[in-house]
Formats: sequence, structure tokens, C-alpha cells
Amino acid sequence: MDSKKTFYITTPIYYPSDKLHIGHSYTTVACDAIARYKRAKGFDVMFLTGTDEHGQKIQDKAAAKGVTPKAYVDDIVATVKDLWKVMDVSYDRFIRTTDDYHVKSVQAIFTRLYEKGDIYKGTYKGMYCKPCESFWTEAQLKDGCCPDCGGPVYEAEEEAYFFKTGKYADRLLQYYEDHPDFIQPATRKNEMIAFIKQGLQDTCVSRTSVSWGIPVPFDPKHTIYVWIDALSNYITALGYGNDTYGDYDKYWPADLHMVGKEILRFHTIIWPAMLMALDLPLPKKVFGHGWLLLGGGKMSKSKGNVVDPVQLCSRYGVDAVRYFLLREVPFGNDGAFTNEALINRINTDLANDLGNLLSRTVAMCEKYFGGTVANAPIDEALAGLMADLPARVDADMEALDMPQALTNIFELVQRANKYIDETAPWVLAKNEADKPRLNQVLFNLCSALELTAALLQPYLPNTAPKMAEQLGVDAAELHALLREETAGVIRSGYTVHKGEALFPRIDVAKEIAYLEAEDAKRKAAAEAAAAPAPEEPAAAEITDHEAEIDYDAFSKVEMRVGLVRACEAMKESKKLLHLTVFDGERERCILSGIAKWYKPEDLIGKRVPIVANLAPRPMMKGKYVSEGMILAADTADGGCSIAFFNDDVPVGMRIH
Ligand code: MSP
Repeated sequence: MDSKKTFYITTPIYYPSDKLHIGHSYTTVACDAIARYKRAKGFDVMFLTGTDEHGQKIQDKAAAKGVTPKAYVDDIVATVKDLWKVMDVSYDRFIRTTDDYHVKSVQAIFTRLYEKGDIYKGTYKGMYCKPCESFWTEAQLKDGCCPDCGGPVYEAEEEAYFFKTGKYADRLLQYYEDHPDFIQPATRKNEMIAFIKQGLQDTCVSRTSVSWGIPVPFDPKHTIYVWIDALSNYITALGYGNDTYGDYDKYWPADLHMVGKEILRFHTIIWPAMLMALDLPLPKKVFGHGWLLLGGGKMSKSKGNVVDPVQLCSRYGVDAVRYFLLREVPFGNDGAFTNEALINRINTDLANDLGNLLSRTVAMCEKYFGGTVANAPIDEALAGLMADLPARVDADMEALDMPQALTNIFELVQRANKYIDETAPWVLAKNEADKPRLNQVLFNLCSALELTAALLQPYLPNTAPKMAEQLGVDAAELHALLREETAGVIRSGYTVHKGEALFPRIDVAKEIAYLEAEDAKRKAAAEAAAAPAPEEPAAAEITDHEAEIDYDAFSKVEMRVGLVRACEAMKESKKLLHLTVFDGERERCILSGIAKWYKPEDLIGKRVPIVANLAPRPMMKGKYVSEGMILAADTADGGCSIAFFNDDVPVGMRIH
């Protein structure tokens, strides 16, 4: 029988409208650290992530690229999976909202809500924000713009299905009261309560204007609004409404939905209301973390201010980037991403404190004891800290405070470095009588490092095994140090193996200069790409479309390149010019009403497009017969403009 406690954690499912950036990595790496921590503690973890693939924005992006929406998202989803590989994200399941099983389940959920009377048909009138795919009431707008993205909104109206969110307002408030930890951090809870209290409107849950979505099964001209589709992922991925997976009973309700603060409302109002309507249990906790900012603003691809996590990992190593993401900003708050802060963290915490502690300890074990130190009691100086640390880290992780957990772990690292200075092993080494004490000091350092490695595993999954290797410890055993049953067990003796520096120190000035140069290059490229195209004159207003013709019909018009061999004004008409045009076989007369805009000398010797098989037309009371037509376009001021060919185009060539 499987008696392990379960832990179900989810990230938001990301829009594959563009490659993901460091902001998306922030959420995912935080979840990964929590998932790894829980696994190390012996939980049966289900860590879910995925992609939210329907909606207008993706439809538009695909159209702009000239591919189908599915082909478009397939490409991006591949880059998302690659990114999680690079960042060592240990997800257990990856859901795509275009997966068949999910589509089927969402349709079943929608139908169930409709049959229950919690979804009804109505007309939606409101201010619509296209990028956010959200309708807003006038009162919700901020300075007349979308309250989420600040972009323009426009009036729209459509027949739509609605979900009775409003009906659940009181139950939601009650739920928050009964479950004080449901919304985290606590400060955000008040925002959600205020939002409900100002009057909760029903939610529009279908669109007739968006074709790239899951059809409403009983009314397929509607597609299901992306948020109903997206939020459902948390249960469809476990097998709710489908038989692709069978873990719903095992893992639901989720222990933690981790989301950015901007989508907390969807997760703490609409999603719980949907679950209430479905008579399903609610998730235990939703955490809305802050934003990683760049240059004072939220990173966004459309603003062009994004940091590419793949580039960072390839330059500094994935653990350095993970460490920065998990350590730098108090979890829950907004915080800035800067190159300086990243490099400082790497140099100070990782290279100086952690890296040096390991390399000094290993070097001394080798130098003074040929690599092997024997078991010895833990010194007072470290004992208390080491004994308490797992519990303190555990409390931090329960509070989802990864920065504090790391701060506490690094307190041990710093204390151990100080312990080296205090005990001065190089002085002890000078005296044979001090050898046992020297052994004890080094054993203490190895123990502190082993505990550090054990505690660091969830955050730095590559570094911890490297530390274990140098300490001569089986990396798999590190887990044991985190389990209640085995915590505090100290091994007897260490046989160390010198290895590479964990984190090479970075030359700050050089690195910043390099990064700034790279930044400048990137900005210049982005500016060049975004530079406004030369101003275009207004397009013509087209009012004279013809019925569609097939190619055969088109090919019956024989257009050729004609050479104007002679051209003169006509005394009989001020409007007409008399042209002699060579069509490659013979000269023909063409009378053209262009005298107001072209002088004969402008045309003589020029290659012009002509219609060669137009029936000859007698003109000037039969005095002339015009045998063709020169193709020209009207200009905006009512004039006319002939298209000319270059001189290297052979006269008589067919125009297709
Ligand atoms: N598809 C929806 C979520 C549906 S969940 C049922 C969506 N996708 S998204 O691609 O826009 O991702 C938003 C999430 O990415 C945020 O909630 C947050 O977790 C993460 N972040 C995106 N940019 C971020 C920052 N600049 N900083 C921190 N997190 C960021 O919304």
C-alpha cells in the first residue's frame, strides 16, 4: 500500500505566444525547489506545468507568421520544454491545452456547468482588451485603459455564455474566512476580498469571435473562454473527465497553485467558484508572488525588455541563475533583475562563501591527512546551528520563503568559514600534538558542508552532488539528512576528492562591460527591428471589387511589355497622347488619356505594360483605331502614374 503523503504543486500554464523569459523561469524554478524539497522529505510529489495554447492572441500571432495556430504553438512549446531542461526543472507532468484529453474534459466540465444552470446564455456588452482577452466594465478601467496591461480597450458586444460567479460571492468570502491560509501572501487576500465586495459580476465564458479555442460542445459557434479552458488544466491533468490519467483521487485537491500576482484573482475567485459549482474540493493554497522587474517595469516581450534565461544559464551555469532567482528577492514582493546583482550574488555567496569553504576544506584534508579524516565530535561552535538548521529551513519552506531558507543555509556556510579563521588549522598543523584537534576541525567542516549540500539540493540540484562527490559522500544519501527519521545522523569519517571550483569568480568590471556591450547590441537590433517603416501614403479606399475569377480567365488577358517608339500630342484632343508602341512583333497605335500628366518626351524609349489583346477601338470618329491599352494607376490627387519596366526586360515579354 502506498502510504506516502502526497504533495500536488502547479505552475501557471504559460502562453506559448512567444519564447518564455526569466520571469516565467522565476515561478517555475520556485515550484521546482519546493517540489524537490518535498520529494527529499519523502512526499509523493506531483509537479505539474504546461502551456495555455488557445485564444485570439495566439491565433493572431500564427496568422502573422503564416502558419496554423497548432504549428505555431508546437514550435514554441518545444522551446518551453527545452528551457525547463536547461533550468533543471523536475516537472512530473506537462499539460498542453490542445491535448485531446484536456479538450474532452473541458467540454465535459462546460456541459456539466450548463446542465446545472451555472452557465447560461446572454449578451455581452463591454470594453474589450484584445491582448488580455478580457472584457471590462467602465468602472474597472484604469484611465480608460485595460486595468491589467494598460493597453487600449474598445466597445464590443456579442452573444455569449456566462458563468454565475456572482452566485458564489458569499461562499467564497466564507471560504477565505474559514481557511486563512488559502490566499498567500496574506496582504493579497485583502485585495481579493475587496474585489468581491465591490460586486462580483458573472463571468463571460465563451466567444463567438475567436475560432482558435475549444468549441462549446452543444453550441459550436462559440469557443470556450481561455480562462475556463486554462484553469481546468489543474484537474484534467490528473484525469478528471478523461481516462488518460488516473491520479485525480490521489492528488486533488492541490496543495499549492503558484502564480504571479496578476492572475491571483482568476485563481482565488473564478477557479474556486467553478470548483464549487462542480462540487469539487478547493485547492489548499494559492500563492501570488511578485514580479521580476527590468529597468523598473514588468518584463514583457511586447515591451522588448526581457532577459533570456537560456543565455544566462549558458554563461553562468544553471545553478547560479537558480540561486539568484530564489535568493535575491523576498518571495511575494516585486524585485529588480540587474546584471550587477546577479554577478554579486555569484561572487559573494557562491564563489567566495560556498566555493571557498569547500575547496579550502578539501585541500586541507588532503594536505594534512592524505584525504581521509576520522569521526570526531561536533564542536560547540557549529553544533547548535547544524542541529537547528533543518527545522528552520523546513519552517521557511512551509512558509514558501525560499530566500529565507537560503539565507539560513548560508548562515552555516558563513559560520563555517569563520570557524576556519578561529581554529586556524594551518597553525594546528605545525604541531604533531594538535593533530587530533586538527582532525576534529576538518571533520566538523566536512560535516557542515555535507549538511549544506543536503539542504541545498532542492535549490542547486547540480551543485549539491558536486559537493557530495568532493566530500566522498554518495549523493543519494544526502536526502536522508532531510528526513525526520534520519536527520542529525552524522557519518563517521570522510575521504575527500579534490574537484573543480564550484563557481569560478567573475571579474565584475570586465563582465559588466561585456554585458553592457551585449545589451547595447541587442537594443540596437531591437530598435532597428522596431524602427518605423518609411511613412506610407494612405491606402486607397477600395469600392470596386470584381467577382473572383479563376486563373484561366486571368490568363486570357494578354499583357506584354511594350516599347514606346514614338509619342506626340494630338491636335484633335488635349487629353490624349498618340503613342506608337512596339509589342515585340509589330508597332501598334495606342491613344491614351494621359496628356495632362505625361509629356511625349517622358515616354519615348520607355517600356510600359500594355494589354495586347484588347479589341481594337475606333476613336475620333473613326480617324484612329487604338489597338491596346497602357496600364496605369490613378494617383491620390486624381492624376495617373504609369508603371515602367527596366531596360533589361525584353520588349514583348508576357506579364503574368
Ligand atoms: N496562461 C495564463 C495562465 C493560466 S494559469 C491557469 C498566463 N500565462 S503567462 O504566460 O502570461 O504567464 C504568466 C505567469 O508567468 C505569471 O503569473 C508569473 O507566474 C510568470 N511571470 C511572467 N512574467 C513574470 C515576471 N516578470 N516576473 C515574475 N513572474 C512572471 O498568464
